[in-house]
Amino acid sequence: MALFIKNIKQLNQIEINPVLMRAGEKMRDFYTISNAYLITEGKYIVDFGKMEDFSEKKLNSIKEKVEIIDATGKMVFPSFCDSHTHLVYAGSREIEYIDKIKGLSYEKIAKRGGGILNSSLLLHNTSEEELYESATGRIEEIISLGTGAIEIKSGYGLTTEDEIKMLRVIRRLKDSSPISIKATFLGAHAIPLEYKGKQSEYVDLIINEMIPMVSAEDLADFIDVFCDKGFFTVEETERILMQGMKYGLRAKIHANELDYSGGIQAGVKYNALSVDHLEYTGEKEIESLLRSETMPTLLPGAAFFLGMVYAPARKMIDSGLPIAMASDFNPGSSPSGNMQFILSLGCIKYKMFAEEAFNATTINTAYAMGLSDSLGSIAKGKIANFYITKHLSTMEFMPYSYGSNKVEQVFLNGKKF
Ligand code: NIG
Ligand code: FE
Repeated sequence: MALFIKNIKQLNQIEINPVLMRAGEKMRDFYTISNAYLITEGKYIVDFGKMEDFSEKKLNSIKEKVEIIDATGKMVFPSFCDSHTHLVYAGSREIEYIDKIKGLSYEKIAKRGGGILNSSLLLHNTSEEELYESATGRIEEIISLGTGAIEIKSGYGLTTEDEIKMLRVIRRLKDSSPISIKATFLGAHAIPLEYKGKQSEYVDLIINEMIPMVSAEDLADFIDVFCDKGFFTVEETERILMQGMKYGLRAKIHANELDYSGGIQAGVKYNALSVDHLEYTGEKEIESLLRSETMPTLLPGAAFFLGMVYAPARKMIDSGLPIAMASDFNPGSSPSGNMQFILSLGCIKYKMFAEEAFNATTINTAYAMGLSDSLGSIAKGKIANFYITKHLSTMEFMPYSYGSNKVEQVFLNGKKF
């Protein structure tokens, strides 16, 4: 199947010389073509350009049947890449939501056995099949909102058996879903109740049992640790990351959400692909990130939902750093995987320009999953994951008009979804 999309009002985020990510001032780089066409063949983007440069000859070399789509008045964007989610989970946590309205903090809820431990109990009592079904529903929803690649973490298992159960669900999703999925092992998400007061034994379990078993079944691409106040220390994080690396798992860690935890520096030291959250980022953290290949990834949905401080995104970009923005889709701190809303939060709360916010939710998040050579922009040879919008006045209308779905038609691997 091939596609010829014609009369596109604006084709966004095209790349002639593709880059793997954009940092600092380059985050404003955003190339577009007005009155454009786009051609895909099989799974791939094969050509694009101005309508006035199009001739029928361009379709002659295509061996497949070509479907013609007229996009007059509409725009085309590459799909969002969401590099940080926890979208395999059981049940939901409205009870804590009410507690938060009453004034309880995320940390206090966690301390009394709510939070991640609450989800862990619910997950323990839910079958693999049910987890798969509910996660499939969530993936279908985010696809319709424009997402074309995701990372999914374990971390609500917290026993070897249940962590493996979660990762097997993620593998099934990988096999059955039309979008690219990366799996992250997050055994170090919280300390299970039975290990209270003997946290180091739980870290030993992760190192000696969980990582080897996850690796034996080849269930994960990455390894994560929640390195923060009240969760895992820098020392524990380093022990876990070292073992992960031995088993070929690159780090993507939760850091500095609750305090200046040292997590950012630990991530950089172990060459993490990304460090995520980063609400507490100061000069030292920025310095450390500037000397690294680690993608600073912000999760504004969590700061929004929990009513917490926002990461200093503007300062980070102005210091020359790249920024990625992901949804953190999870039942506790961000129960939404809507990347259009993340785009809006980037502009509204972080004071990012629309160009920066688009780069942060596409090419830079693709980088944070190790996928930016094949996804995250409109470039020849990249996978044809993109969406056609409803009628749009300008591309800034996307973040501006928050809360409504501007995506009209989604294409994944060159096929209509
Ligand atoms: O990224 N911060 C740690 N983990 C998740 C929250 C998970 C939960 O509360 O269930 C996060 O926000
Ligand atoms: Fe998270």
